[in-house]
Amino acid sequence: MNLADLNKVALAMVVPGKGILAADESTGTIKKRFDAINVASTEETRRDYREMLFRSSEAMSKYISGVILYDETIWQAAKDGTPLVKLIEQAGAIPGIKVDEGTQSLPQCPGELVTVGLDKLAERLKKYYERGARFAKWRAVIDIGSGIPSMTAIHVNAHALARYAALCQVAQIVPIVEPEVLMDGDHDIDRCFEVTSRVLNKTFQELRVQRVALEGMVLKPNMAISGKKSANQASVAEVAEKTVRLLKACVPAAVPGIAFLSGGQSDEGATAHLDAMHRIGGLPWPLTFSYGRALQAAPQKAWSGRPENIAAGQRAFTHRARMNSLATRGEWKAELEQKAA
Ligand code: 13P
Repeated sequence: MNLADLNKVALAMVVPGKGILAADESTGTIKKRFDAINVASTEETRRDYREMLFRSSEAMSKYISGVILYDETIWQAAKDGTPLVKLIEQAGAIPGIKVDEGTQSLPQCPGELVTVGLDKLAERLKKYYERGARFAKWRAVIDIGSGIPSMTAIHVNAHALARYAALCQVAQIVPIVEPEVLMDGDHDIDRCFEVTSRVLNKTFQELRVQRVALEGMVLKPNMAISGKKSANQASVAEVAEKTVRLLKACVPAAVPGIAFLSGGQSDEGATAHLDAMHRIGGLPWPLTFSYGRALQAAPQKAWSGRPENIAAGQRAFTHRARMNSLATRGEWKAELEQKAA
C-alpha cells in the first residue's frame, strides 16, 4: 500500500468547494427513483440519465470532486461510445465504486441488518482499479427503534466496514467508510446523537484493530438529526452544533475528511446544515457532501426521461451542486435558492 497516494486521493475527494456525487443507486433503488418520475428503468435509460449528470461540465469541473458509481455504470459507455468513467475523469473528477452488495437480515436480531459483500472483494477491487476507480464505498445501515440498535448489529457492521476498508487500502483504493444511522424513526436528535456516537466509536475501534490507516480513508456519516417522524424537529443551528460536537468527540483528526450522506433530508435542509457547520468553524477536518438524493431529486424531476429536458436536468444538477459547494465554505444563503426558482 502507498499511503501517501491514498492520502492524496482522500484529500482531493474532500477539497473545499467540492463534494461527492453519490450516483451509485442499485438497480432496485434507481427503479424506485425512476418510478417517481414515470420513467421505465432500463439499462439504456439508466445510462442516459447518468450520462446527463456526468456531462454537466460546470457542475462536474467546479463542484464535484468524485462520483460513486454502481457496478453496472462503471462498465457502461456513453451514447457516443466513450466510457462513462472517462467522462468523469475528463471533467477532473475521480471515479469511485460502491462495492457492498446490500443488506441481509441479521440472525437473532429482529429488524436489524448486516451489510454483505466481503467474499471475493479483493478480486473485484483489482478489476475496479484497472477500470479507473480510485475510491470505494461500503454502507452499513443502523436503524433506531424500540430496543434497537443492538450491540450485535453495531459490532458486526463495524467489523465488516473495517474488513472492507483494509482490503481497499491494500488494493490502493480509498475506502469511504459509511456507517449510516437512519433518520426514519420518531426518535429525537439526542437519541440520534447517542446512537451515532456508539456507532462511530465502535467503527473506529474496529478500524484500528484491523490496522486501517486513518490517513487513507474518508468517513461518510449521517448528521445528528431528528427522526423524520419525530414531533420535535431540531433547528438548523442545533443540527449543526450537535453534529460538530459529535464528530469532534468520535472522529480522529488523522482522518483526511468527512463527507455526509443526505439520508432523506430535504435538498435545502441538507445544504443549510452543512453550511451552518462551516459557519461554526474551527473544524479539524474538511467537511463536505456526498449526497445522493439531495443532489439528484431536482435533476431527476427536471429531466423526467425526455431528451429535450437534458439541459434543464443539467441546470438543476448544477444549481444543487453549486449550493452545496457554497455550503462547504459557509457561504450559502437561502435567497440564492429563491433566485434560481
Ligand atoms: P443519500 O444522500 O440519498 O442518503 O445517499 C447517499 C449514499 O450514498 C447512501 O449510501
